[in-house]
Amino acid sequence: MTAEATAGSTPKRNAQIAGVGSALPANRVPNSYFEDVVDTNDEWIRDRTGIAARHFAEDGVNTSDLSADAARAALASAGLAAEQVDMIIVSTLTPDRPLPATAVLVQQKLGVSCPAFDINAACSGFSYGLAVGASIVESGAADTVVVIGGEVLSRFLNMSDRSTCILFGDGAGAVVLTPSDEPGVIGSVLAADGRGAGLLTIPAGGSDMPASLQTLADGGHLIQMSSGQEVYKRAVNSMTDACREILEKSGYAADDVALLVPHQANARIMGTVADRLGIPPERCALYVEEVGNTSAASIPIAMDSAWRAGRIAHGDLVLLTSFGAGIAWGANLVRWTIPSPA
Ligand code: ACO
Repeated sequence: MTAEATAGSTPKRNAQIAGVGSALPANRVPNSYFEDVVDTNDEWIRDRTGIAARHFAEDGVNTSDLSADAARAALASAGLAAEQVDMIIVSTLTPDRPLPATAVLVQQKLGVSCPAFDINAACSGFSYGLAVGASIVESGAADTVVVIGGEVLSRFLNMSDRSTCILFGDGAGAVVLTPSDEPGVIGSVLAADGRGAGLLTIPAGGSDMPASLQTLADGGHLIQMSSGQEVYKRAVNSMTDACREILEKSGYAADDVALLVPHQANARIMGTVADRLGIPPERCALYVEEVGNTSAASIPIAMDSAWRAGRIAHGDLVLLTSFGAGIAWGANLVRWTIPSPA
């Protein structure tokens, strides 16, 4: 999926990121909180993950609330009103409810009328959502598409499992996609391998293992990770390969990339991916320290934070990459078209 105009044909319609925004719950939870919950400590968590804190949503604040806030911020940065939105895509593994889609709840909160649907590609949800949203804009089916990654993972954590409960946080990030003459979303690489489905899972609550008193007692509705080290290895290899593939397909080199924005799972994973690509630390966005792993929300939150901090400028080449449950992974290459924040 690369955006190129074919010589002699009608110029191809492209998609660009016209706005970006994010939202975090106010409740900041430092590592020290977990010292009273499981056998862990701040030093271990910082050393192994780079995480110092994460934010947990207050009671009554759901994925759709954070997603709607992120969408409002993204629309404001694009200078667009909610009424101009033609389509809403929410990537999430923690929907408000199994039914209906969280995207329709966001639509209701924004007070607009447009098609709205969810995507679940776990931590790679934003890569998938961006690729789908850009294709819809390029096809002419919609002019203004809001792509959101939103999660309230704190409600799916097993607070007696120290290998997972310390990793995740809540939040949402969003972009607004609009048509452009030049490619803004230059291209995407998406991949999945269902043979790894057992690596990271919430086994109960679906058709395979419907909710019962037994599934509740077994913690089947909470996140389970069978091997952190296997996830680590596959995350590094998959993200590195996806980045190399999208750069090569699009005719760019790692040296051309102004900022790498990897899925914010773990500082060591991100550092290794950047190193293998030959991208120095100052050109890699690291935001995991303050928010933990926010799954589908992590890339747009990190991208928004980098843009607001002046680390991405108009015309920059930005490389996004993700890996997560499924297993699923991907990369998107973006030419940044949003002016610097006022
Ligand atoms: N505090 C203290 N000790 C801990 C903790 C903790 N929170 N968690 C695990 N340990 C212990 C283990 O029990 C083990 O003890 P043992 O030697 O007595 O058996 C020891 O630390 C070493 O465990 P490892 O699993 O080998 O530790 P590792 O260095 O691999 O770090 C971690 C674990 C942080 C989970 C790492 O493997 C990792 O980050 N993997 C990626 C997982 C991930 O990011 N998943 C998120 C979803 S997927 C994604 O977003 C990419």
